[in-house]
Amino acid sequence: MKRTLEEHAARFDEKAGEYDDSKSDEYHACANLVVEHASPGEDDVVLDLATGTGAIALALAPDAKRVVGRDISEGMLEEAEQKAADEGLENLSFGHGSFREPNYDGPVDVVTSNFALHHLSDEEKREAIAVIADLEPRKFVLGDVMFFGEPDPDEPFYSPDVDDPATVGVLADAFTDAGFSLTAVERVHDQVGVLVAERSSTAGDAVGEE
Ligand SMILES: C[S@@+](CC[C@H](N)C(=O)[O-])C[C@H]1O[C@@H](n2cnc3c(N)ncnc32)[C@H](O)[C@@H]1O
Repeated sequence: MKRTLEEHAARFDEKAGEYDDSKSDEYHACANLVVEHASPGEDDVVLDLATGTGAIALALAPDAKRVVGRDISEGMLEEAEQKAADEGLENLSFGHGSFREPNYDGPVDVVTSNFALHHLSDEEKREAIAVIADLEPRKFVLGDVMFFGEPDPDEPFYSPDVDDPATVGVLADAFTDAGFSLTAVERVHDQVGVLVAERSSTAGDAVGEE
């Protein structure tokens, strides 16, 4: 991580009020794909990590049983809470939590995260994916800045001083090492994509039952 959690939280506290006003087409395309792939059922609990102002959480709430949003920035969480109240959504709850310490130990069916995991180093991303796997969701849908080709620090989708995007290969390895199977890869841009990881437990369970 190129900045501490506190530094990242302070950066987002500062921009929380204007955050929703300055999003790229690629951000919107990525967020839409995360929502589409998450596709929770009416009995599903969704955990949205690094929820920010709640873009993904609010979009999923009408279809899910419950959505839990976690973030390290109180300013972003306050915006999310206000938006949920304005929309009259009551099956949402927001609170402090990070990728590696989500501060949530209830049941979870689907984990989502959009445009945030790139703040962690590759080793920290691996730790975060392992923590998420331990929550035993059916599916983890990750939208983020990620490299499909050669990393180009001059491109606009990340700031090299604060961001640390991974290659798609590094993320795919981290998912499979944590027991997920990658079931979809969506390329939005050379540096933006969505990965869908599902738990590959069925075969193991069947063997264990014999
Ligand atoms: C670019 S915003 C994305 C917010 C939201 N997911 C969206 O799609 O609009 C990144 C968010 O990640 C949060 N964040 C950064 N590092 C984090 C960490 N280690 N754990 C949890 N949240 C983190 C920031 O506070 C910020 O709200």
